[in-house]
Amino acid sequence: MTLEFIKTGVPGLDQVLKGGLRKNSSILVTGAPGTGKTILALQFIYYGARDYNENGIYITTEENLDDIREFAKNLGMDITSLEKKNKIFFVQKPIATLKGGLSSIKGLVNAIKKNNVKRVALDSLIFFEYLYPKLDGDKMEFRRQVLMFMQKMKKAGVTFLTVSERSVTDFDKLVYDMIDFVFEGIIVLSRIRKGSYFERVFTVAKIRGQDHSLDVYPITIGKDGLRILFDQTPFSLVEKEESDFK
Ligand SMILES: Nc1ncnc2c1ncn2[C@@H]1O[C@H](COP(=O)(O)OP(=O)(O)OP(=O)(O)O)[C@@H](O)[C@H]1O
Ligand SMILES: [Mg+2]
Repeated sequence: MTLEFIKTGVPGLDQVLKGGLRKNSSILVTGAPGTGKTILALQFIYYGARDYNENGIYITTEENLDDIREFAKNLGMDITSLEKKNKIFFVQKPIATLKGGLSSIKGLVNAIKKNNVKRVALDSLIFFEYLYPKLDGDKMEFRRQVLMFMQKMKKAGVTFLTVSERSVTDFDKLVYDMIDFVFEGIIVLSRIRKGSYFERVFTVAKIRGQDHSLDVYPITIGKDGLRILFDQTPFSLVEKEESDFK
């Protein structure tokens, strides 16, 4: 079987991944608050539908949908126009809509089939804690639920991207969670201090069975969204290395 790759929709990311993401894989995008996780997930869904004809579902546990539409608009994404064409679907507060656990995930799988959905983004992993409040710190069970959900996504033929928060994102001191290991790929977003300001950076920590770059890249967020400067090295790191030689 030949491996099929999909374009992510995030400028620069496909170059770092040497072609794109494996179709039907599961990717975790993690980082501290404000590092660009939501924007990356939105671009994956929006440009996936607009440019690569892959319909998408975006599930958010935190933000109001109108706020997201407005937020995305300021980053160059006109979500409403694709919603009108039934190419992307936004679901908020699945705690209410997906009450009842697994049977409701069935509803999501049905929506995937009915609308020919190829990409699902989940912002964020907290979703499972809302969905199964009784887990209450039971990490094994939490992991099992995430795995089951992921398998359902794979079976339904979607590429699955999840966002998770993490307090420590210093690339040298990265602490992995047990849950990280269930994902086939992990992307980490962070900031590095350079004098009086922070530079946004990004790295691919792993992607199972796929060749990818392990370098740290600078990223920018502007009116066109998030962009990975795949042909550059972060200034902050260049200066750090130079000073190591003094
Ligand atoms: N229109 C814009 N132009 C430039 N920068 C923007 C714009 N919109 C957002 N940003 C930047 O992007 C950052 C937020 O990105 P995003 O919401 O994706 O972060 P996040 O990692 O999801 O954060 P959290 O963990 O809090 O949800 C903001 O802190 C801001 O600096
Ligand atoms: Mg966010």
